[in-house]
Amino acid sequence: MKHRDSRLFSMFIGPKGENIEILKNEILYGLDRHKRWRSDYTPDDPSPVAGTDFSRDTQKLHRAVEALLDRLERDNPHYFHPRYSAQMLKDPSIPALVGYFLTMLINPNNHAYEGGPATTEMEMEVIEDLQRLVGFENGWGHLTSGGSLANLEALWAVRNYKGKGRVLFSVASHLSWKRICDILDIRDFKELPADSRYRMDVDALKKELASGEALCVMANFGTTGCGAVDPLDEILSLREQYGFHLHVDAAYGGYFRSLLLDEQSRLLSREQVGSQISPYLYDQAAALCRADSITIDPHKHGLMPYGAGSVLYRREELRQAILNTAPYTYHVKEKPNIGMFTLEGSRPGAAAAGCWLVHQMFPLFKDGIGSVLDATLAAARRFAHLVDGAENLRALTSPELDIFCLYAVDHSRRISAVNSQTLKIYNQLSIENPHAPFILSKLLIDKNTAARMLPDHQPDADHLIAMRSVFMKHWMGVDEESSWLEELLKEVEKAVNS
Ligand SMILES: Cc1ncc(COP(=O)(O)O)c(C=O)c1O
Repeated sequence: MKHRDSRLFSMFIGPKGENIEILKNEILYGLDRHKRWRSDYTPDDPSPVAGTDFSRDTQKLHRAVEALLDRLERDNPHYFHPRYSAQMLKDPSIPALVGYFLTMLINPNNHAYEGGPATTEMEMEVIEDLQRLVGFENGWGHLTSGGSLANLEALWAVRNYKGKGRVLFSVASHLSWKRICDILDIRDFKELPADSRYRMDVDALKKELASGEALCVMANFGTTGCGAVDPLDEILSLREQYGFHLHVDAAYGGYFRSLLLDEQSRLLSREQVGSQISPYLYDQAAALCRADSITIDPHKHGLMPYGAGSVLYRREELRQAILNTAPYTYHVKEKPNIGMFTLEGSRPGAAAAGCWLVHQMFPLFKDGIGSVLDATLAAARRFAHLVDGAENLRALTSPELDIFCLYAVDHSRRISAVNSQTLKIYNQLSIENPHAPFILSKLLIDKNTAARMLPDHQPDADHLIAMRSVFMKHWMGVDEESSWLEELLKEVEKAVNS
């Protein structure tokens, strides 16, 4: 039975380009309006566009465009399709594409108000929506080019605000954290072990906190590897005792909090939320509002194309620690000049406009963007269920969000043998195989974590290798009768048995 929310079907181009006319209509309408907007401005000015025969140039341009498209189609996997679930590549929604494209024609810069008044206001509205999504009141935040930059700015602000100190995060965290410590010259950082579910080991955190003051603990709400959610509630209790800054990297998982919210952004009860959200996930998502700062990326689950991350601060005062001004800009004093408080300089107003248009169609609550996320969760849950019934496959963890990892069984119970079996899947179902019917990726799990995840296996390899599927395309979960997941399982089993 099909999901009833028509936006799930109408607001995406579709795996077969079914809705390209919807996109075309809005783009063509916008181009006409744009032409008029230009020509209506000082109509008496002369036109500098000289000459009338541009055919040589336009033919050359067209040939270059053809060459561009040839290369894009020849050298890229079909990222938009549900058969591609290797990396966090979401097919952007139609509102995002329309908002981005039509604003790009004007090319506003949200660095200072004067560079993009309309899109600065939109950015502030988008940020208010995101603040309500995570449950912050009266905080501060802005869009960034991505999650790494958001993480970097947050730690920069915290370090400047609070001074020196240790930074703690789990070994399952995104690679940006070690880079950021290097850039900020924070040598006193520690990677904490992850437990058997790939979550931060809170006992290890306790020990570290007892051994010396920490400046910042960074927890994950959706690890890049398998979407694991760290126990925020327990970490928050430790904050009471130790007083560190808690940054949550919810670059991937933050939007899932929409599934807990009604139209007024009020928290729904567990019963209202439904069984898709486990009690554990419910508690951690509810607790997000008590974090001190959060990274959340519109270009991951916010239906946006790349170039859209965000950083949110619970208390506005943190931005003062990174305030910078300049003699040549920020002239409009009574309006927000976001760039005074950002690490990045020029930022595309088009990204703010894209997000703003997405929020008009998919507001950030359960019956808005939550419908999309509900479908991606359903895909991961259904696939986990199918794998449960497969003889020679095991789930690495039960999926907390919509990323699912599995490994192949080997009766010798040696990790090296498990890896060889799992690599058979990788060789068939990844970018390594140009004819792969499905494209997944692999996840390497360090030896210590692997020993916790597979305690009854002999740890005779440096890593455990798992296959990783990021079920971001809602098409996999939106239609219960679709057979993609069954087909995927068959292909995985075929590869292992080959
Ligand atoms: C949890 C997490 N944090 C941060 C990032 C970095 O985001 P970006 O690639 O947008 O810089 C990622 C990217 O995958 C991520 O998964």
